[in-house]
Amino acid sequence: MRVLSGIQPTGSLHLGNYLGAIRNWVRMQDEMEPGSQCFFFLADMHSITVHEAREQRIRNVRDMAAALVAAGIDPDRSVLFNQARVPAHAELCWLLNGTARIGWLNRMTQFKDKAGKDREGASVGLFVYPVLQAADILVYNATHVPVGEDQKQHLELARDIATKFNTDFGVDLFTLPAPIIPRATARIMSLRDGAKKMSKSDPSDMSRINLTDDDDAIIQKVRKAKTDPEPLPESAEGLGGRPEAENLIGILAALSGEAPDAICARFAGQGFGAFKPALGEVLVETLRPIRTRFLELRGDDAALDAILEKGATRASAAADPTLRAAYDAMGLMR
Ligand code: TYM
Repeated sequence: MRVLSGIQPTGSLHLGNYLGAIRNWVRMQDEMEPGSQCFFFLADMHSITVHEAREQRIRNVRDMAAALVAAGIDPDRSVLFNQARVPAHAELCWLLNGTARIGWLNRMTQFKDKAGKDREGASVGLFVYPVLQAADILVYNATHVPVGEDQKQHLELARDIATKFNTDFGVDLFTLPAPIIPRATARIMSLRDGAKKMSKSDPSDMSRINLTDDDDAIIQKVRKAKTDPEPLPESAEGLGGRPEAENLIGILAALSGEAPDAICARFAGQGFGAFKPALGEVLVETLRPIRTRFLELRGDDAALDAILEKGATRASAAADPTLRAAYDAMGLMR
């Protein structure tokens, strides 16, 4: 089993990233069997689709590395690195650009969302983004990719690219990766709008809980989270058509391990004024140790760089044979 996943180092880690992906990364790392390997990386090459000043980009990569270690990624057991240090990703992306079809990329909903109305003004990088993501996965022959729901379509594309490459060149080179998507927390929604996912790029900071938020900020954000005027139902069935309520109860369930039905039964008939302090408290208790560790690690740039450099060496060693085989399959002499 080879586990691989990535995160863009833009903005800070938020609760959606944590519950949708990172918590699963840590679980898979902790349950890893001998002979299995986990690769986790900062998708800095993907993040060039958003303009950022040089110094900020450097800061972002180190901060996200610190956040992942604080959340439980152990750089001795898992291979933790930033994509720019492992050129095999970009090289394989170019080779796969010969395989991926424009029609396939045209169907990517994330491109449509991010490009907005001005498609002609969007960068080529934003369009080709999913091919680089396919290369990230295929260059390690990853078998399992733990991600949130929003990455499912990109994973399907990676499988399509792998299949077509293998068929076109008559090889059995790329493994088809399986997405690992948590059932209950695949899509954590914005605290301000139950129809939008929680996201780093939402202009309202009140829409998300950041790993860097202090206790007071967390409590405030929960208190101000959008809800509806109805009391809590007796069971989770009564949450249908109430996206904000469903999201908040889902978050508490994910953090406390309690079933949504049990939470509803506990607060049945009461308003959100009773429920929100309970959610705030569990959030504060869960995030405080991660934040404390993050703040300790964040100051030590030399230690973070050393972790990422060591990770990149290990990652390159794992990626290079696949990359070499891809060049060879295509008849590109080196
Ligand atoms: P990114 O940086 O947007 O998000 C990182 C991970 O967090 C998950 N996620 C969520 N899960 C649940 N609810 C939410 N509101 C939420 N917001 C984010 C994402 O699904 C993701 O798993 N393209 C990827 C990075 C990437 C990658 C890869 C992932 C690049 N190459 C190869 C896997 C394999 C991205 O932008 O994730």
